[in-house]
Amino acid sequence: MGVFKIITVFAVIFVVTTPLPLRTKRTVTTLTDPLEDSIENLDQGRLANIEAYSASDNDNKRDLRNSETSSRNNLREGLLASRYEVKLTPNFADGTFAGVARISVILNSGVADPIKFHFVDLKVGTVRTITGTTSTEVTNVKVNDGVLEINTGAELSLYTFEIEYSGTLEGAGIGFYRGTYESETYVAMNLHPTNARRVFPCIDEPNVQTTISFTFAGVNTYTNVIANSKRLATQPTEGELQFEPLSGAPYLWGMMAHNLSPANLPASNVVLYTRPTRNSGDLQTSVAINNYFNFFNNFTAKPYDSIIANQQGGMHIMALPDVDRDWYALSTIAVWEPYIVIEVSAAARQKQIGFVKIAEAMSKQWFGYVLGPSNWRYQWVITGLGRYAAFEAARRLESNPADAARIDMDAAFVTDVIQESLLDDSYTNALPLEPDADLFNENAIRNNINGLQKTKAAAIMRMLSLVLSQNSEIDYVRNAAQTLFNTATLTDINSRNFYDTLSTTWNQATNLIGNLRDFVQPWVLNNNYPVIRIDLRQGSGVIVTQERFGFANRPQMNFMIPLSFTTSVNPDFNNIYPSQVMQTTATLTMDLTDDDWVIFNIQGQGYYRVNYETALWNRIISALEDETRRNQIHPINRAVLLDDALNLARSGRIEYSIALRIVLTMNLETEYVVWKAFMRNMNILRNHLQSLVDDNDNLDSNIYVRLIGRVTNAAETNLTFSPDPNLTEPAMRSLARGLIMETVCKANYQPCVAAAVDLFRDPNDANAINGNIPADIRPAVYCANIMSGGEEERNLLIAHLAKINNQYERVVILESLACSTDQDYIRSYLDQATIATSPYNSEEKTRIFKAVIESNYKNARVALNFLIQNTARTIEALGGPEKLEEVLYTLSRNFANGGMVTEYKNWVSSLYSNLESSRLIAERYRDFIDQDMQWNDAHLNNIYTWIDQNDAPSFMLSMMLLCISLMVALFNH
Ligand SMILES: *[C@@H]1O[C@H](CO)[C@@H](O)[C@H](O)[C@H]1NC(C)=O
Ligand SMILES: *[C@@H]1O[C@H](CO)[C@@H](O)[C@H](O)[C@H]1NC(C)=O
Ligand SMILES: *[C@@H]1O[C@H](CO)[C@@H](O)[C@H](O)[C@H]1NC(C)=O
Repeated sequence: MGVFKIITVFAVIFVVTTPLPLRTKRTVTTLTDPLEDSIENLDQGRLANIEAYSASDNDNKRDLRNSETSSRNNLREGLLASRYEVKLTPNFADGTFAGVARISVILNSGVADPIKFHFVDLKVGTVRTITGTTSTEVTNVKVNDGVLEINTGAELSLYTFEIEYSGTLEGAGIGFYRGTYESETYVAMNLHPTNARRVFPCIDEPNVQTTISFTFAGVNTYTNVIANSKRLATQPTEGELQFEPLSGAPYLWGMMAHNLSPANLPASNVVLYTRPTRNSGDLQTSVAINNYFNFFNNFTAKPYDSIIANQQGGMHIMALPDVDRDWYALSTIAVWEPYIVIEVSAAARQKQIGFVKIAEAMSKQWFGYVLGPSNWRYQWVITGLGRYAAFEAARRLESNPADAARIDMDAAFVTDVIQESLLDDSYTNALPLEPDADLFNENAIRNNINGLQKTKAAAIMRMLSLVLSQNSEIDYVRNAAQTLFNTATLTDINSRNFYDTLSTTWNQATNLIGNLRDFVQPWVLNNNYPVIRIDLRQGSGVIVTQERFGFANRPQMNFMIPLSFTTSVNPDFNNIYPSQVMQTTATLTMDLTDDDWVIFNIQGQGYYRVNYETALWNRIISALEDETRRNQIHPINRAVLLDDALNLARSGRIEYSIALRIVLTMNLETEYVVWKAFMRNMNILRNHLQSLVDDNDNLDSNIYVRLIGRVTNAAETNLTFSPDPNLTEPAMRSLARGLIMETVCKANYQPCVAAAVDLFRDPNDANAINGNIPADIRPAVYCANIMSGGEEERNLLIAHLAKINNQYERVVILESLACSTDQDYIRSYLDQATIATSPYNSEEKTRIFKAVIESNYKNARVALNFLIQNTARTIEALGGPEKLEEVLYTLSRNFANGGMVTEYKNWVSSLYSNLESSRLIAERYRDFIDQDMQWNDAHLNNIYTWIDQNDAPSFMLSMMLLCISLMVALFNH
């Protein structure tokens, strides 16, 4: 049925949006009931449309062809599985499960050919065909390369198969798995994106819709058993739980069987479950969920309780103690416990992360379950809209500027989404949002949907919204989403129907651009993004030119770039809507006299970087250096200036001296968003400089910390490293202090380390941890003590671990232990994280690896060597390739020298690497680190020299210290 519907929707969209006569509003009523049309008729109609379509627009034709092929399955021509009945029986004693799948099949072609299903990591038992009450065993059955092939020897076009099989209960949030916490277990099923094939034989593609019903045996001992659909009113068999059938693609099914307890009812029909021992009655999360629930119902105009017939109906949000993964199944939302159990006294940082994660998890019920991609190639539309909406929800929640506890979600979006994305998207082989062909291979799908896409898609949606809407009264992106929800529900989204719906909704109501597709496609189909350059013009005003940005030279191309700017003459950083869209270049008149600056890209909302001619950089820098004039520039733009300058220098477009002068102005900075940009960009300098000085006795081993000493003045005097624990202050200040201390303590900046050592122990008991360390600086304080201390400090912290009853705090401690500079300890820590009897749960293991890698480059090297020697064991411990790939990404960000790069490259290219399905992604990171080494070769010595010559204050200080020690020496004689 689903297939028919897709074709109908597609045909309608096609007809309506063809540039020829029919450019009218798309209405719901033009959709015919899919069941009334036979597939033959639709095919005919669609073919006629293809013929009628002018050959001039190759793009459109390409889209059309692709969606033509993807409306069938890629596994076997002519195979339709109309219905699945799946029964799963876990066997906890040996960690396996038994499965029986009854599948109704229609063959439209090749009736004599084998029938195929995706089938991975499962063992096939008996296969039977069922006709009426008789069943016949099929003996010619093979499993090849993830595909189950059934040869019946007959030539029928209708079958019902009954397939018995077995599988392993996975450990970490994928497929059908068993999770653990304390002495408890739970059972759950998460099939996104291609894990349905690990649970039952199926055609596991997002556009292949069917009807599925599930039965779970032996899980009725759990207090709560919830799936997407309702339970049958009367259960046919004792000890089994059967759920109503639902239509949809296999990957959208989920289930949870658990003994967590309902902690809260944030809204009617919305239940939040946590471990009974971890229910602090946190009102904050409950308020957030309630807000989000109403927000999404309104934003999508798709009420949650009427998504699909037979749906479970409630929204069940579970705080999972041990797993952090994407979930898209209806009614069952699993969120990692630290994102959701947020106590009143929690760190601002936990709130900042958690409130966004909860919004994203909830958004997937609509953007993901209701709207799905027609092929994983188009997932960017879903992810982009979903994250865009989630941030809008979080922004709305945190919109009261008078609330001291407010998290600035505008800053969070720019720094965590746009700027992160711009960094990852600077590499030559960064992936475009939309690959140029449909994706069917699992590794290629993960490669596409994880990583850059998660940030870039939302950044592009945001920019698009500002360009189209031009004021805050209306949001065409939101309106288009509503239209999609109410016309294309439960079918498949591709970029074509997104563009067409958005074009129709917007209907050229604003005039910055003429054609939506022309504007947006260059950003979607290519990697990288532009940098604009601002030059002063003879007379008055500026000339704006553009170039494609990348860390290496890239083939030139033009983007249509939304421009927004303000000048020191009349600074206005509040109007974030662009004033024009630049096609190739632009000339702007403005009155700039001697010292006047102009700043482009207001609040960093555009997905591009800005370069200025040197004279303009100098004016900006002199404003940044002056306390009063600095504050005239919006903090987000101060972050953008720093982020852009350091990346322009990294790519060789400006001198490092310009970027580093901006870095030195951090001496006046206390804002979180600016320090976040500092941390993101200075990390690579820290690692590479440290490695450089470690390998050269004649260089100053304190070079990086000298730079840190020049930039912390405001942070130290205004925020301070020893805040009064009883002081209530704005959350954003706590957040900033936590980040700054983490950054500068890790760099071994002594005033920070000393403050941390002072705070570490209980003032009344030197053998216990101080319980009054403010939550936001605990990561810095613990890390600094582990780093500067030894076994004693570690043991104190490990003893503390046993006392706390909070998963977020637990992870803070586990991550802090990774700061140790004792490499034997680090090795044994990684070993503990990967042994079969590891004391750490699945997600904790991943966090430990990442923390080790991020602590310093030497630990990163220990982790690299550990991974090389224990690849298979680590993949198993982390819970599969996806988690390994997260670790590899972090690793790729923390290489420091050619030696490490060589080790990594040898590993990745070795036939015996055991990287298995992660090789594709590991190779992409190899090219990233190669590019970083080219940067090292070209710039590192200059950077060293510049810092060495430009840290006068500490130079003066060391001269003074030298004088003092000379005098002391003299007096002592
Ligand atoms: C969303 O909320 C606004 C403002 O309260 C209201 O005007 C609008 O009708 C709502 N839309 C839907 C679809 O509920
Ligand atoms: C810190 O800076 C803020 C903003 O510039 C100012 O309002 C506040 O008084 C300063 N606090 C201290 C302790 O210097
Ligand atoms: C903070 O408040 C607690 C309890 O009111 C008190 O015991 C403690 O001394 C205070 N700490 C500081 C540094 O004022």
